[in-house]
Amino acid sequence: MLVLGIDTSCDDTSVAIYDARERRLLSEKVSSRMELHARYGGVVPEIAARQHLELLLPMIESVHEEAGVAPDPETINLIAATRGPGLIGGLLVGLGCAKALSLGWGVPYVGVNHLDGHLVSAILTNDMLPYPHIALIVSGGHSEIYKANSPTEYFLLGETRDDAAGELLDKVGRLLGLPFPAGEIIDGWALEADPEEPPQKFPRPLLNRDVLEFSFSGLKTACLYFMRSEEAKKYSRESIGAEVLRAAVDCLLGKAFLACRTQSIDTLVISGGVASSRYLHREAGKRAVKEGFNVTFPDPNHCTDNASMIALAGWYRFEKSGPDDYDLDCDASLMVSTG
Ligand code: KG4
Ligand code: ZN
Repeated sequence: MLVLGIDTSCDDTSVAIYDARERRLLSEKVSSRMELHARYGGVVPEIAARQHLELLLPMIESVHEEAGVAPDPETINLIAATRGPGLIGGLLVGLGCAKALSLGWGVPYVGVNHLDGHLVSAILTNDMLPYPHIALIVSGGHSEIYKANSPTEYFLLGETRDDAAGELLDKVGRLLGLPFPAGEIIDGWALEADPEEPPQKFPRPLLNRDVLEFSFSGLKTACLYFMRSEEAKKYSRESIGAEVLRAAVDCLLGKAFLACRTQSIDTLVISGGVASSRYLHREAGKRAVKEGFNVTFPDPNHCTDNASMIALAGWYRFEKSGPDDYDLDCDASLMVSTG
């Protein structure tokens, strides 16, 4: 059962061939052209859509070559492409390409929810992932907690009231003069943070309240005002960035473990681009041991956007509801599948 996966939801063009029965990734390519967007301080939708258009077909040829399979109906059994949420221009390129290949090859296709992809991405690393579990998605656009009953059935337990965790790091990165996206650099600072530096403390919004919600925009504002103060002169930008990530991680883990406790579920799965943070891994590991929970992450390549997770989520969707019709549309603000 070979699935061709395509993700063009944001700036990265990704394509993969995944063997869904054997649970084996045959080949995968991610092309990131962040340098084209960096000077604008964020992803420019029109530039991203044009890049996807240019890169997609050559990348599809190249994953077939790498997997050693011919691009025809004899080998590929299913085509799965992201239909939302994301930037509409890129989604149209990916889903349109999937429909054209499906018609040309006579192979079924499915439109996949990008978030469903993140929610199953840990299975690419651990195919014994237990259900039910609590799933925390932390990316550039999302900070949400779900109860996952199966790979196709999720209940939203809580989300951010404003900015996503990755968005916070990218905005704070901009204040600190870092290139976009800034998450990985700030992560390095938090790992190396010098315990001897004088302690500064940013707020942990909503952490002491019994709600499963995040609010990260106040943390960004606190950082901005702190940087304008005299006091800030005593601190390096590394120590300020590190404290922002520490505060965000306190909130993320505090609420995720609260969800585990209130739902009486002992496994927490963390996915999305921010889940590749080594600082988050270290802290999650420590707290999981202390609080008696298990915590699992996808491998770092499958935390950030990738087409393998789309192939896998597409296969689950196909098994449950069969192929999609050609009139299926993209949806830039699609919600997670609830079952
Ligand atoms: O899931 P993703 O690749 O794209 C979205 O669907 O949003 O997530 C991108 C986000 C960016 O905000 C980026 O700064 C953050 O993930 N990120 C990280 C790390 N690598 C990427 N944040 C913290 N630590 C990292 N190592
Ligand atoms: Zn994503």
